[in-house]
Amino acid sequence: MLTYENALKILYRYGNGAAWIQHCLAVADSATIISEALREKVDLDIEFLRSAALLHDIGRYVTHDPILHGVEGYKLLTEMGHHKEAFVCASHILYGINSREAVKYGLPEKDFIPISFEEKLVPLIDFMVEFDKPTTLKKRFSSLYERNIGNDCFLAKLAEAELKATSFQHKINENFGILLEDLVNS
Ligand SMILES: [Fe+2]
Repeated sequence: MLTYENALKILYRYGNGAAWIQHCLAVADSATIISEALREKVDLDIEFLRSAALLHDIGRYVTHDPILHGVEGYKLLTEMGHHKEAFVCASHILYGINSREAVKYGLPEKDFIPISFEEKLVPLIDFMVEFDKPTTLKKRFSSLYERNIGNDCFLAKLAEAELKATSFQHKINENFGILLEDLVNS
């Protein structure tokens, strides 16, 4: 199992002082706050959630491409034997990619769609953090739409991801009475 401490070592080694590691740390901080709020309400693997949140963007050491950074993260963590966290690198992209798309991007032919609660939380939290500050899903998606103007295929997928993120947050609020957006921004 990958401990948070070892995940931090990987982040610092491959991040090598780059600015993007601040985003990773901020997503992991929000994951910690959320896991504290949810731990008594749902069975949660907190170490996995925090480590996966910390390393979801580790592929940025190779590329900042909106899709391929997930593929690079998957490759790196798979080589290291951290398969669960590797899966999150790939599946956080656009809230999940199917096997057909996966092959196109150089991943194995299988669905990389978040299934477990932890796997679904990482992209949701990622969409609540703009660089190193918590924000709302609405603001974060607006900024993503703006940043990807002209990339129509990506924009269509982004709209699907927004729907998934919004409905998952809504479901958590319905089941546990916690609006994660408010929690991370408080
Ligand atoms: Fe990412």
